[in-house]
Amino acid sequence: MTDTVTIRRPDDWHLHFRDGDVMREVVPYTARQFARAIVMPNLSPPVTTVELAKAYRERIMAAVPQGVDFTPLMTCYLSDTTDPDDLARGASEGVFTAAKLYPANATTNSAHGVSDVEKIYPVLERMEAEGIVLCVHGEVTSADIDVFDREAAFIERYLRDIVVNFPKLKVVFEHITTSDAVDFVMESGPQVAATITPQHLHINRNAILVGGIQPHNYCLPVAKREEHRLALRKAATSGSPKFFLGTDSAPHLRSAKETSCGCAGIFGAPYALESYITVFDEEDALDTFEGFASLHGPAFYGLPVNEGEVTLERVEHAVPETLPLAGEEIVPWHGGQELGWRFVG
Ligand code: NCD
Ligand code: ZN
Repeated sequence: MTDTVTIRRPDDWHLHFRDGDVMREVVPYTARQFARAIVMPNLSPPVTTVELAKAYRERIMAAVPQGVDFTPLMTCYLSDTTDPDDLARGASEGVFTAAKLYPANATTNSAHGVSDVEKIYPVLERMEAEGIVLCVHGEVTSADIDVFDREAAFIERYLRDIVVNFPKLKVVFEHITTSDAVDFVMESGPQVAATITPQHLHINRNAILVGGIQPHNYCLPVAKREEHRLALRKAATSGSPKFFLGTDSAPHLRSAKETSCGCAGIFGAPYALESYITVFDEEDALDTFEGFASLHGPAFYGLPVNEGEVTLERVEHAVPETLPLAGEEIVPWHGGQELGWRFVG
């Protein structure tokens, strides 16, 4: 039995750092495991311009512990009024690595998102020409579509058209949760890829609703039926370069989760690699873990792979139920559970 696994230093291709005290305290969790991370721009107000992204990047860098090598990769929050020139300038200056499409009101802090995808077609045209990656939160937001169907509906209503109309545009279908999304990505060309979170590999929708409402298993897109979870596990461990690691770590304080209208988001950062490798181990696929965690993402984004390595070992350990954060507490993903793998460094 393999008891240690050493891989090239990985990256997190989708996460939320927030800002202020929370950001300062969550950045070290990511920086100790990952060399780079795609940082989501859904602050309030959102990161919509080169200047805002530069300032946010500096605040993040100031939170990286001394001696730790970590690079935040910034994204531009697309809105109905995004200026294609500003976005292109940000990309050419190395500030923006990607731009993020949130359909308006799809999720946390997305009120300024895109109200109609066709409104940003000129921006997508420019991104295609400049080789800027589009990260997509793929859920329709219209009230007539059931929350469990929103991802599949997004493919049919918008994503197929985007991919047809902009055949060279690099698209990352973020945090996919359905077999429909897996199929769509597999059927598309090499310019379409997807990130997969740890939670969507571990839980199905029962984990949110059976035995009482479980707010710490609630995120968006919401976990789906078991058949979808199995399709995601197959895709993640398949070795296909179209699937890579993106935790969607989305910290919300315990008080904001355990309330009458709890926020969507799971704080996956602290035990991210342990969570993923557990799945690869269960699927007897430790050999494809490095590709998913460290190789496929850089290849898709056209970035070099990282220098250095990290090691995980097979050791049972208990994950604390809560962690202190910003003078309050937060429940991490796997909080209160035993994990069979430990991050060594
Ligand atoms: C994210 C957040 O809280 O910022 N929440 C979530 O459930 N994933 C937003 C997002 O990525 O949808
Ligand atoms: Zn997210």
